[in-house]
Amino acid sequence: MSASARELPPQQGGDARSEGIAYQSLLDRDTREVPDVLREVHCPELGSEDIPAALFTSQAVHDREMDRMWSRVWQMACREEEIPEVGDHVVYEIGHLSFIVVRTDAGYRAFYNSCLHRGRQLRDEGGSVSEFRCPFHGFTWHLDGTLKEIPCRWDFPHLNADNSRLPEVRVDTWGGFVFINMDAEAPPLHEYLGILPRHFERWPLEQTWKAVHVQKIVRANWKVVMEAFIESWHSVETHPQILPYTADSNSQYDWWGENISRTITAMGSPSPHLRDVAEQEIMTALARTSGRMSGSEEDESLKVPEGRSAREHMADVNRAEFGRLFGIDLGTASDAEVLDAILYSVFPNFIPWAGYNPNIVYRFRPNGSDCHSSIMDVMILMRFAEGAEKPDPVPVHRLGADDPWQDAPELGALGYIFDQDMGNLPYVQKGLMTSRKGAISLANYQEARLRHLHRTLDRYLAD
Ligand SMILES: [Fe+2]
Repeated sequence: MSASARELPPQQGGDARSEGIAYQSLLDRDTREVPDVLREVHCPELGSEDIPAALFTSQAVHDREMDRMWSRVWQMACREEEIPEVGDHVVYEIGHLSFIVVRTDAGYRAFYNSCLHRGRQLRDEGGSVSEFRCPFHGFTWHLDGTLKEIPCRWDFPHLNADNSRLPEVRVDTWGGFVFINMDAEAPPLHEYLGILPRHFERWPLEQTWKAVHVQKIVRANWKVVMEAFIESWHSVETHPQILPYTADSNSQYDWWGENISRTITAMGSPSPHLRDVAEQEIMTALARTSGRMSGSEEDESLKVPEGRSAREHMADVNRAEFGRLFGIDLGTASDAEVLDAILYSVFPNFIPWAGYNPNIVYRFRPNGSDCHSSIMDVMILMRFAEGAEKPDPVPVHRLGADDPWQDAPELGALGYIFDQDMGNLPYVQKGLMTSRKGAISLANYQEARLRHLHRTLDRYLAD
């Protein structure tokens, strides 16, 4: 379903006043057939209200988010390939809460990570076990949460199998991810995900494996951090090196229902902030600094042939290179699908990228009970051929608040880009704390995904 022309911002409607080429016009020039889901434009009115700064800086808001929001939403806890065998589990933490997500012989289950005896966390970290045995006194549960053993059984006549099952939360899967939800009344995951499963039909994330996972503490509220990754227009000031090949201020933004939004930023097309960028200049900058393309500047394949655009040529390079990397034929993949930054988000904090790229995934969470600190996860998912064996996932590489992303060489050029973002975020948090205005004023279109996030968050907090 498309929004009416009346609702479109000027550049999306192809208005002559707009800056740069509209994303949909760029798709008209694609060398392959473009999938319908990229042709959807959906940007219903979200208003232009200010957002109170306290939403990012107040402990009371954090507490209410824990109480009213995090307790009721579907949250991505891990990848399925992280827990391939019975007994494999991860510890997923959200705020002050901790859960064990485990594979059993009857599917996945998730339990509150707390011994029913004296409350000690049953597991400090993930791993593989045949039972959950508390390290304090040895109370033990089966993988399905039923009681297995109480040491000094004679002293606990008041405990039995019925009143000593591990309390559990709902678990479901989509796209090779395992999600949990604490709320028994919440809609099923598939319903919660809205248009997302349909949009990803062409790029099934089940057919990927986690090749990179870096997690970092950031000294800013989780929403401050997340909101720097769901709009592209800060590139002009924060990431100027990417402008020759990034269509930043003419990105397309969409949102559907309460939970899903999307940014599409074209690559291999220069920023409207620049004038007269030569095709070879686009290509060279792309290869040098994007972090999502292969090859080096000296590579013959990075010379744009006479009469072709950098975008067309880079798409050819990527179709060949990613096809080889994934072991699949990308001959019919559109230029858009092998080049562009196509980021969806699922409320509140899960950001899977689409297309036939090494797909980035972001996740943003509060760091314990500190409303001024958060945990940012970056995964890179690699596609593998149908029928091929799924490679083992990498362990999580953890970075502290003072460690730069560039300490994780597996991120390639992305590390430098993320460090540019980190150059802002702790100072956004500090600035919000001292803000005399007490509010932020957002762009109506380019920051609409932030409005969409806050609109849904407001609904949970008000309930
Ligand atoms: Fe950024």
